Amino acid sequence: MNWRALFKPSAKYSIIALIVVGVVVGVVGYFATQQTLHATSSDAFCMTCHRDHSLRDEVMASAHGGGSAGVTVQCQDCHLPHGPFDYLLKKIIVTKDIYGFLTIDGFMTQEWLDENRKEQADKALAHFRSNDSANCRHCHTRIYEDQPDTMKRMAKMMHKNNFKKAPDDRKTCVDCHKGVAHPYPKS
Ligand code: HEC
Ligand code: HEC
Ligand code: HEC
Ligand code: HEC
Repeated sequence: MNWRALFKPSAKYSIIALIVVGVVVGVVGYFATQQTLHATSSDAFCMTCHRDHSLRDEVMASAHGGGSAGVTVQCQDCHLPHGPFDYLLKKIIVTKDIYGFLTIDGFMTQEWLDENRKEQADKALAHFRSNDSANCRHCHTRIYEDQPDTMKRMAKMMHKNNFKKAPDDRKTCVDCHKGVAHPYPKS
């Protein structure tokens, strides 16, 4: 095949060739990216940038660290969406963090996290609010409908009253449950 013809948009075959190449590259690229994305979605991946941040130790010390229930909840379980498309989208947003990572002075240090904790926590909370705490509900399914006998009375009452409201007026999980994995800063 003549390579120049491939790049000449007026040639009939070159346009078809371009579309075919485009589709093949797109499909291969999509699956390749899915694979890498899954490979990168481990705590270790998150901690490469959040290296000296106490985030993982905090999770381990919390109820989500496996102490009582024996289940260690991973960063991605709470912070990344489950649908493949949402997953890509959030990952693309996360990759914006590459820019922050390169430009924020001293990002990796604990001092930076301590100083910026409130702002970062509120950004994270905004995301939970935007999808009605979907990640929380993914594990804690039907928290309002099927309350186990072992659930504290206070919890049952709060959940029941919230569920009685019209869906738009309900609070979302993180409105009441802040700091379930990291200490939520007071100020
Ligand atoms: C490329 C480096 C990098 C990687 C990898 C990374 N982060 Fe971050 N992360 C950052 C930076 C930089 C910020 C601060 C962004 C800002 O405020 O501009 C941040 C902020 C956050 C925040 C708070 C702000 C928000 O938007 O919610 C959360 C939550 C977070 N990261 C979770 C994660 C999780 C979970 C992973 C693993 C899936 C991860 N990060 C992987 C660099 C990274
Ligand atoms: C991967 C599954 C998983 C995800 C995701 C998850 N949890 Fe949990 N959660 C657990 C397990 C396991 C426990 C410990 C056993 C128990 O108490 O049920 C727990 C315990 C809790 C508790 C009781 C202990 C405490 O800290 O007071 C609350 C409240 C809670 N989770 C809220 C949340 C919220 C809010 C989110 C979303 C930000 C969330 N969970 C995300 C699995 C999960
Ligand atoms: C209106 C406030 C409110 C909302 C909204 C709310 N909770 Fe709770 N929840 C509470 C209170 C109060 C308790 C009891 C104190 C505690 O354990 O933190 C509780 C307790 C819990 C517990 C521990 C129950 C036990 O076994 O004793 C879990 C798990 C939990 N909530 C999950 C959730 C999830 C998931 C959501 C979102 C679907 C949610 N909650 C929404 C107020 C709320
Ligand atoms: C059980 C769910 C859960 C797990 C597991 C979890 N997070 Fe979070 N994370 C949250 C919530 C909820 C917030 C919002 C602030 C709050 O409530 O404390 C948050 C906030 C953050 C923030 C903003 C700063 C802060 O401390 O509030 C960063 C950064 C972050 N998480 C990174 C991580 C990393 C990295 C991991 C894995 C080592 C992880 N998270 C594991 C639920 C979780």
